[in-house]
Amino acid sequence: LITPETLTSYRALPKALLSVSRTTGVIEWVEDDVPSYTLQETLAKHGLELNADVELIELKDGEFLMPGFIDTHTHAPQVPNIGSGQQHELLDWLAEVTFPMESRFQDIKFARRAYNAVVRRIIDCGTTTCCYYGTLHLEATKVLADIVHTSGQRAFVGKCNMDRHSPDYYVEPSAQDSLVATRDLITYIRSFSSSEDDTLVHPILTPRFAISCTPELLNSLGQMADEDKNLAIQTHLSENEAEIVFTKSLFPPDVLPGGCKTHRKTTYAGVYDAFGLLRENTILAHAVHLEDEEVELIKTRRAGISHCPTSNFNLRSGCAKVGMLLDKGIKVGLGTDVSGGFSPSILTAIQHASICSKVVATSVPPDPTSPPDGKLTNRQLPVPTLFYLATLGGASLCNLSSQIGSLTPGKFFDALVVSVRNDAGNPNVWGVEFDRELDVRGSGGEEEDEGGRGKNETEELEGMLERFLFCGDDRNIRRVYVKGKLIGGKEYQ
Ligand code: GUN
Ligand code: FE
Repeated sequence: LITPETLTSYRALPKALLSVSRTTGVIEWVEDDVPSYTLQETLAKHGLELNADVELIELKDGEFLMPGFIDTHTHAPQVPNIGSGQQHELLDWLAEVTFPMESRFQDIKFARRAYNAVVRRIIDCGTTTCCYYGTLHLEATKVLADIVHTSGQRAFVGKCNMDRHSPDYYVEPSAQDSLVATRDLITYIRSFSSSEDDTLVHPILTPRFAISCTPELLNSLGQMADEDKNLAIQTHLSENEAEIVFTKSLFPPDVLPGGCKTHRKTTYAGVYDAFGLLRENTILAHAVHLEDEEVELIKTRRAGISHCPTSNFNLRSGCAKVGMLLDKGIKVGLGTDVSGGFSPSILTAIQHASICSKVVATSVPPDPTSPPDGKLTNRQLPVPTLFYLATLGGASLCNLSSQIGSLTPGKFFDALVVSVRNDAGNPNVWGVEFDRELDVRGSGGEEEDEGGRGKNETEELEGMLERFLFCGDDRNIRRVYVKGKLIGGKEYQ
C-alpha cells in the first residue's frame, strides 16, 4: 500500500491490510504490517473472520494499492482533438482548433457517443475524481453529467459560460441565457442524489475565462457563488502573455465593480476577485505568469491552482512556479487540460510537472551560499511531492481532502490496483525483482541478502512507485475503485 502523507512524504507499506465497508465504501481500518501468518489474528482483532461476508483480496508480488488520481482540470469535449494543433499558442488554438470541435456538441447524438468514450478512457487512466469542462451547450453537458454519474466516477461537471469574444457559431446569446442554462444544469446534477454528503457528481460554475464573459455575466456568477457556498468554481488564469494583455484591456479599473476608487490597477486574478469569483472553492487552471500581488490575493482568498504542465509546454504558455506556490501555502493539484495537453492521463501530467520544475530550477540556479532549507521554490519537485499533487493535493484543491486523496481510515476507498509485473504488458516498468537477470537499476549486489538485491521491501516498493509514475500507463492500472466500487481498469469487465 502506498499513500501520501504530507507535501513531501508518503508511506510505503509492503505488507499492509486495509478494510473497506461494502455498504458505505469507506476505509474502516488499515494495519501497517500483516505478514500472512498473522492474518487470522489481525482479522479477529477487528471482529472479523474469513467467511462469506468477508472478501479477501490479495495483491501479487509487483502489485500495489494507491489512491486514485485526481484530474483537477480537463475539457471533455476536446478529447476528440487530442494531439492536433500544437503549432498554435492559446488564442489562435482556441479559434482554429478548439471552438470548431466544441461547437459540434450541439448535436446530442455526437455528444453522447463522444462522452461515453471519453469518460471510459479517463477512468481507465486511473482518474477517480475529475473536474470536467463541458461545452456551452446545456443538453450536451447534461449528457456528460449522466454518463459520469452512471459510470460511478467522482466528478465536478460544468457548462461553459461564454457570452462574448467567441465565434458567432459558438457563443451564448446573452448573459441572461447563460445564467438560466447554468441554473438548470445545477438543479439537474443535484437531483442525482438526495444529499450533498453521498453525492459523487457535483455541479461547478465554469466561466470559461474572463475574456469570454461580459462583466454582467461574471457579476451574476459571483452572486450565485455568494448565495450558494457549496458551489465550486473553475476557470482559467494567466496562461498566456497575449491572453493577459487582452484581459487587462477588457477590464480596466473603471469596468470593475467599485471602479477606480477600489481598484488602482488591473491584475488578472484581481478581475475574478472583483466579481466575487475568487473563493475557497475556486480552481484556477494554469497560473503561469502571476504577479506577486496576485499570488498574495489567491492565498488570502484561499483559492487554489490546477497545474497543467503538459498543456503549458504544448501551447508554449510557460512554466508555472509550482514550488513557490506550494511554499506560500497555496493549494495545488494537477490537471491534464486536454486537449491543450495531449494526454488524458495524470501520469503524463506528473512526468511533465517534474520536467517543468527542473526547467524552473535550471533557469533560476539556487544560491550556493545559502544552506538547503527544505523549501521547494525554484527546486525540482521530489517524487513524494509529485505523488501528493496527483492525489491528496488534488483532493485539497477540490476541498474534498476529508473524504478522498489518501488511503486513510474514514475516507472513501477511491483507489487503484497498480501492477508493475511483466504480465501487465508494459516492459518499461518491469521491476528488476521480476527479472533479476536483467537488473540494471538495482544496487547490483546479488549476493547481499535474502532478497538478493541489497534492498529492503520498502525500498523496492518505493522503486515500483517511481517507475510507475515515470514509465507507467493504463496497461499498469488493473482496477479502479470509487467509493469501494470497481468502476474501471484493465480487469474491469
Ligand atoms: N482558456 C480559455 N479556454 C481554454 C481552453 O479550452 N483550454 C485552455 N488551455 N485554456 C483556455
Ligand atoms: Fe483548460
